Amino acid sequence: MPSITLTYLKKLKQRGEKITMLTCYDATFAHELSTAGVEMLLIGDTLGMILQGHDSTLPVRLEDMVYHTACVKRGNNGAFVIADLSFMTCSSTEQALHSSAQLMQAGAQMVKIEGGEWLCDTVQQLTRNGIPVCAHIGLTPQSVNVFGGFKVQGRDSKQAEALIETAKKFEQAGAAMVLVEAVPASLGKALSEAVSIPVIGIGAGPDTDGQVLVLHDMLGLSITGKAPKFVKNFMRGQDDIQGAVKSYIAAVKDGSFPAQEHCYSE
Ligand code: KIV
Ligand code: NA
Repeated sequence: MPSITLTYLKKLKQRGEKITMLTCYDATFAHELSTAGVEMLLIGDTLGMILQGHDSTLPVRLEDMVYHTACVKRGNNGAFVIADLSFMTCSSTEQALHSSAQLMQAGAQMVKIEGGEWLCDTVQQLTRNGIPVCAHIGLTPQSVNVFGGFKVQGRDSKQAEALIETAKKFEQAGAAMVLVEAVPASLGKALSEAVSIPVIGIGAGPDTDGQVLVLHDMLGLSITGKAPKFVKNFMRGQDDIQGAVKSYIAAVKDGSFPAQEHCYSE
């Protein structure tokens, strides 16, 4: 597979072809997922829960992110690689630059940062320094203690409008992608229409430019046995992981995932 670039991903948005992303934390899965045709691999700080057994993403250290990014890079077969800036690794622009440099040197091609408009300066500085940025908005799990739980965001129209403004400001600041988590499907659609950069959704309905799921969730693996509403087990009816991943890709591309049952209403 030829290597996926940001230019190509933007073209997919323009053509209306859905973009696929999965989280990935190691070399073997990086090889499996990229070979199956997943366009983007995200080294998410969900590794704090999935790999490390914590109950939030807060304990994840930058060195954990760097380690898993390097693992994914070694197994990757042409997918676009994005790494999360974990909790308190970007509390100033200077710190964000320093943290991102480590992720990029480990093999990331973009960093993802959680938050709102206050990050626009940081996004601009990162981009100026050769580091593409994905802005993660909506439910931002690093702020779970501020939100008072993992709650659907943007349900009232004022909050929804504010999120659309935030996405526009991020685009103006130079962000190359937006990831939106846990918002009503109508807002996922509005966000994707409001900006020209790709908007990738998780729990944000079928009308975002692309979809992401946590790898272990879509393979039906879970410590708690409880999966969020937006998760579908793609292992069901498949003989192997390649089959599950290919079925995820097909379902995203043909628009059958996410279905109504995976979506939040207003
Ligand atoms: O850390 C992660 O896996 C993420 C996705 C849920 C989007 O940020
Ligand atoms: Na994350």
